[in-house]
Amino acid sequence: MAYAAFRSIGAYAPADILTNEDLSKMVDTTDEWITKRTGIKERRIAAKGQTTSDMGVEAASLAIERSGIAKEDIDMVICATISPDYFCMPSTATIISNKLGLNNVTAFDISAACTGFVYILSIAKAFIESGMKKNVLIIGAEKLSAITDYSDRGTCILFGDGAGAAIISATDDKSEAIIDIHTAADGTYADLLMTPNGGSGSIHDSLDQEANSCFMQMKGNETFKVAVRTLTKDVIDILEQNKIQSQDITHFVPHQANYRIIKAVGDALKLKDEQVVMTVEKYGNTSGASIPMAINDIYEQGKLKSGDLMLLDAFGGGLTWGSALVPFSPIK
Ligand code: ACO
Repeated sequence: MAYAAFRSIGAYAPADILTNEDLSKMVDTTDEWITKRTGIKERRIAAKGQTTSDMGVEAASLAIERSGIAKEDIDMVICATISPDYFCMPSTATIISNKLGLNNVTAFDISAACTGFVYILSIAKAFIESGMKKNVLIIGAEKLSAITDYSDRGTCILFGDGAGAAIISATDDKSEAIIDIHTAADGTYADLLMTPNGGSGSIHDSLDQEANSCFMQMKGNETFKVAVRTLTKDVIDILEQNKIQSQDITHFVPHQANYRIIKAVGDALKLKDEQVVMTVEKYGNTSGASIPMAINDIYEQGKLKSGDLMLLDAFGGGLTWGSALVPFSPIK
């Protein structure tokens, strides 16, 4: 049987920085409020004309280079995004594939909001374990500034732009393999976090361009409570089911939405601060890109070593959530 190994990581953050100070000149908010409630100090914003796929290509190129796998051997490309280059088609994955010169691969996007990276990791794992694919490029890429309402202080303080990517490859060495992945969704909570306009469910006339702008809306406080409850249960379950103790986790890499959510889940697992990866202060919430951007951060700081065990967890619109137990397994 083939197993799936997490071979490499890459990420890209645009140069432009939007600080809490900057936001306090745009909406009724303060650096103190944002820092205290979210832990975010600044976020990155894509340049004018820079697309989600442009950022995805930067991250993917690094992941490919670091994997030691020839570009031509990649047979599938999956992109997790809620801010695609084009709504509906073509998929951002096909655009990224084309920009990378990969024009004979299976390529598609998935929409699972902030849980997107855990979802595409599970899809890559399943395709590899079934023997259908050998080297899968997965990308979480977001230009959330394109779907953020900068007059809504409840959401605009949270989101930023960026991309992260990884190469997942077949191996017959079980010690290198991704151990387990949980993915889940509960549409009962669909209205907590949505882009209500622009789709076939929009209450507006389809020709009313203005009313159909795809801005995100969120009931933040309710989302927060479901996130803490669901994530805490999910990470405890995945550890118990795989008979792994929380002290055996080298890096807990949660979705970077709010340091209070991260802290609540980390405390429930009795994790030490040095086990918890936190990038929310500098990138904010980059949805599907946030986990691979955080993994890339520890990789570039020299903290992520071959054989380290990562616990990933994520939560987002849908509502969706998931967790994964992933050893870092670069080719030796
Ligand atoms: N500045 C100042 N005051 C604000 C701001 C702001 N930016 N935003 C809201 N407030 C006010 C509210 O109006 C409210 O005022 P009131 O008490 O007079 O009514 C007060 O602050 C408290 O508001 P809450 O919404 O209860 O604040 P909360 O502590 O819940 O923090 C936050 C809000 C940061 C959004 C938090 O709820 C959160 O992080 N939620 C989870 C987000 C998340 O994880 N989303 C899922 C992933 S995102 C995705 O999938 C794309």
